Amino acid sequence: MSLLEVTDLSVIYGRNRAVREVSLRVEPGEIVTVLGANGAGKTSLLRGLQGVVRPAGGRILFKGADVTYANSSRRVESGMMLVPEGRQIFVSMTVHDNLLMGAYLRDDANIARDVDAIYDRFPNLGERRHMKASVLSGGEQQMLAIGRALVGRPSLIMLDEPSLGLSPLFVGRLFDLIKELNREGLGILLVEQNTHMALEVASRGYVLELGSVVLEGDANKLGGDAALTEAYLGG
Ligand SMILES: Nc1ncnc2c1ncn2[C@@H]1O[C@H](COP(=O)(O)OP(=O)(O)O)[C@@H](O)[C@H]1O
Ligand SMILES: [Mg+2]
Repeated sequence: MSLLEVTDLSVIYGRNRAVREVSLRVEPGEIVTVLGANGAGKTSLLRGLQGVVRPAGGRILFKGADVTYANSSRRVESGMMLVPEGRQIFVSMTVHDNLLMGAYLRDDANIARDVDAIYDRFPNLGERRHMKASVLSGGEQQMLAIGRALVGRPSLIMLDEPSLGLSPLFVGRLFDLIKELNREGLGILLVEQNTHMALEVASRGYVLELGSVVLEGDANKLGGDAALTEAYLGG
């Protein structure tokens, strides 16, 4: 059974059809990337998948269950976690409280242990746990956003342009982290404008143009296709 299986998903804002009958799948433990130029519909697709916007049509199966019209919290509870574009952390709250937000739907006794595991993974966050998140660098804020998602114990994490605005050093660390999380068994749906690095870590990819999937296939095949990068991704 696929972890995520999407069939003919559409997202419409007023008259603007941002996502047009997109079909894609993520297998358990797989990294899949969604590529496309600005405005192609990548963020709208992820918002539809997470239930932040109501799909106009299509079907979303997560672990075999139909969540097409389930609310966002139910999807989070079942293990689907979006790390939104622009990170969306709470800058006036402490690092620690940001991480606890990731556990808002949990009521088990292991939350503190899981937050500590985030500090083990990201020592920079541990050292700043009592500081406001506003003191963090862009790279650290991205780690915090991912850490917050991990505290929700997802089986699928959806990352919306996580490398945007990061220094080359942090971009490298971010992709190392993505590979590491995947080795630990997490399914990852990665939206990126950094086409080269995304295709390097992913096993498969989809290319969106004007809301439609115009190309899909093995990441190494897509990566070797220079015409593709020219035509759909602006070089
Ligand atoms: N909240 C919104 N209301 C109306 N149109 C939107 C909204 N969000 C995005 N759009 C439009 O939907 C299309 C896809 O946008 P988006 O999903 O943000 O693309 P991408 O993430 O690939 O840059 C664009 O034409 C954009 O202007
Ligand atoms: Mg976007």
